[in-house]
Amino acid sequence: MLKVENLNQYYGQSHILHNISFEVPNKQCTCIIGRNGVGKTTLLKSIMGQVAVKADVMQYSDMDLRTLRPEKRAYAGIAYVPQGRQIFPLLTVEDNLRIGLPVYQKRSGKRRAAIPDMVYELFPVLAEMKQRRGGDLSGGQQQQLAIGRALVLNPGLLILDEPTEGIQPNIVAEITRVIRRLNEEWGLTVLIVEQKLHLIRALADHFVLIERGNCVAKGRGDELTPELIQTYLSV
Ligand SMILES: Nc1ncnc2c1ncn2[C@@H]1O[C@H](COP(=O)(O)OP(=O)(O)OP(=O)(O)O)[C@@H](O)[C@H]1O
Ligand SMILES: [Mg+2]
Repeated sequence: MLKVENLNQYYGQSHILHNISFEVPNKQCTCIIGRNGVGKTTLLKSIMGQVAVKADVMQYSDMDLRTLRPEKRAYAGIAYVPQGRQIFPLLTVEDNLRIGLPVYQKRSGKRRAAIPDMVYELFPVLAEMKQRRGGDLSGGQQQQLAIGRALVLNPGLLILDEPTEGIQPNIVAEITRVIRRLNEEWGLTVLIVEQKLHLIRALADHFVLIERGNCVAKGRGDELTPELIQTYLSV
């Protein structure tokens, strides 16, 4: 489980995140929701150590993330797919996936040199397009590649920042199904930023609602009321 208590973040003089507290239960999906610019990405970057924070607690499993260097967080089993799929356009699909292997090998102590079958099983298009250059894939396929690369780490916690932004509907549906399978079949814990209400409804076992850097509500997915949606989401 990931646990955060009283997290504060500043960009220079700007106080962006204010006393954010929440938990991400194991093997379930937690959605961070809120309008544009409220601090969702900054919250994920805080967890990954890409921005400096003050927090009373920032813990994953039994590890104190506050003292764990950013690059060590991947070794701790946290995989991060940032907003705007950052794949390597000139490398093939297969080589993009291979980038995750050294982290996997170091974490597990195994010297496996192959991409796990599970990645190709979840995203058959990556198997079909192994030799194609990443930059030649469609936006949705690149997003699948970015998620696939994160899974090569064999993470315990997968963090995704708006993976369905600007992607064609059939691939959105496929990505949503995969996230569900990751929870249910692979026992992976998922923390995702998502803005589309129908996907929040489909995915969120739990939600954390952010407004101007404050957590204004949180709870089980079925506790996300029409009033909260009306007040805090742009729908
Ligand atoms: N590097 C930075 N330096 C200064 N301010 C920043 C920086 N990055 C983000 N901000 C500010 O922090 C606030 C939160 O931004 P953030 O990207 O976390 O929002 P978001 O909820 O992810 O938005 P979106 O839904 O558009 O992705 C915004 O006011 C933004 O302008
Ligand atoms: Mg963002």
